[in-house]
Amino acid sequence: MIVAVDGPTASGKGTIAKAISAHFGLPHLDTGLLYRAVGRQCALSGGNPDDSDDAFAATAFPDALLADPELRSEAAGGLASRVSLHPEVRQALFKRQREFALQPGGAVLDGRDIGTVIAPDAQIKLFVTASVEARAKRRFLEMQQQGRGITVEEITADLIARDARDTGRTDAPLLAAADAILLDTSDLGRDQAIAAAIAATEARRE
Ligand code: DC
Repeated sequence: MIVAVDGPTASGKGTIAKAISAHFGLPHLDTGLLYRAVGRQCALSGGNPDDSDDAFAATAFPDALLADPELRSEAAGGLASRVSLHPEVRQALFKRQREFALQPGGAVLDGRDIGTVIAPDAQIKLFVTASVEARAKRRFLEMQQQGRGITVEEITADLIARDARDTGRTDAPLLAAADAILLDTSDLGRDQAIAAAIAATEARRE
């Protein structure tokens, strides 16, 4: 069973993917982390994330970089969104994601293009959304807990810019697959969102 969980930043897709992974005993890959590692590697090596050669070179990042807490920052998210525009970068990360999806026993992957490009054959596709306001509020609380000084206004502006880049790009834009189940988490608490996602997965599995 392959479960594809797509959606914009801070929609709750990561939380939902982790909960589905635990509930069904499936391995989980957060594909955004791969793009974040490329963005961070590019910055660390002094490259320009908007230049396709520099961004592609950064796809050879060391695996140890995936454990860097800095990848969770807003800055790393912004860099990831920029390097992810280059088709060369997407191509370089494709094999790793596809192999993860095809492992025996199944897998859960969350990202932007899992149900459309990485695993169009996934049995279960969830497209998780939420209003910009709800997402900004969640991200703000998360950042506060991590002690990062950033305002709701800054987060909102950043979310809008990233949405525009992720949705507007020509290669593998953020888009719900035709056969995806839509889940709007704007008015749902964490546990409610998880319960709804597990119920939808159970129903599709039968
Ligand atoms: O899910 P996230 O915020 O960690 O993703 C960071 C960026 O990576 C996002 O703005 C776009 C890019 N991304 C992508 O293009 N395709 C994916 N499957 C996952 C992430």
